[in-house]
Amino acid sequence: MTGKTSLIKTFANEKKGVYINFLDTKGIEGFARKLLTQTGFDMSEIGVDLKVFHAKWSKVAEDAFGKLRKRVIVFDEIQNVASSPYFLKTLKTAWDTYHELKIVFSGPYIGLARNLLEPAEASPMYGRAPAVITLGLFSKQVSKSFLSDGLEEHPDIRVSDEQIDEVIDRLNGYVGWLTYYGNFRSVRRLSHEKSLSQTLREGSKLISSELNSFLEKRQRKLYVKTLRMCINGTRWSELESELGVNSKVLWGVLNTLKSVNLLEESKEGYYSVDDPILKEAIKLL
Ligand SMILES: Nc1ncnc2c1ncn2[C@@H]1O[C@H](COP(=O)(O)OP(=O)(O)OP(=O)(O)O)[C@@H](O)[C@H]1O
Ligand SMILES: [Mg+2]
Repeated sequence: MTGKTSLIKTFANEKKGVYINFLDTKGIEGFARKLLTQTGFDMSEIGVDLKVFHAKWSKVAEDAFGKLRKRVIVFDEIQNVASSPYFLKTLKTAWDTYHELKIVFSGPYIGLARNLLEPAEASPMYGRAPAVITLGLFSKQVSKSFLSDGLEEHPDIRVSDEQIDEVIDRLNGYVGWLTYYGNFRSVRRLSHEKSLSQTLREGSKLISSELNSFLEKRQRKLYVKTLRMCINGTRWSELESELGVNSKVLWGVLNTLKSVNLLEESKEGYYSVDDPILKEAIKLL
């Protein structure tokens, strides 16, 4: 909820590119079908036997890339598609064939990180990881004017400076959550306390489901315990003795968590989770 969709949709619009959202789409078949629709291809022209052969769907997708090669292609919510090995292979072939392809991938940082951003040696994407742009959070000042300006459009709602300060402290500059709070206050007419707690609840549920997909196929117990210990901040030595793992394993876990922005490490070697919504989400795991 940092404004990714808003940003890339605007970008696609300005560049006369193509924006496709793959929420609820899985695998190469779903991907190829959606991509085709954007190229104006008639699905009925494709044989029924395609259902069985992933390889053919890959070919269909490659052809679609060929048709779109002159335009900026923006893929949103690509996480479930990106886990398909056929998708990665298709992407590699498309890139090798059409050198001018320009593709923007977007999705939840935690869910997107692995296959596309950290391709393993065996992956077709190895050595071809996309450049990473992390959309930052609003600063306190920007959050404040964003919220105040929005609420000023509803003069009948009274929001004190203290309330705005509390919202900014608790929601940490996520534009989407600030918008949520504003909507609860001005449209749903909820109190400050209700709006804030509802926003935190919705936010932590969403992040918690992203965390769950991140933890799939990882040592869940170890990661969850580490994250829980970091909610209030902790040191390497404490983690090592509490978790009962050797330093190599611990280094791996902490490094992974840092690389997907879940953990911060201070200069003094202190590990902590700073984001208040993430803290709540970890408690739900
Ligand atoms: N720069 C901005 N200024 C004002 N409002 C914004 C801005 N960016 C996003 N918003 C608003 O914040 C909300 C969330 O934005 P958006 O859906 O783009 O975020 P997202 O990062 O794609 O979220 P998700 O992680 O759920 O996909 C929307 O209501 C959007 O209108
Ligand atoms: Mg989005």
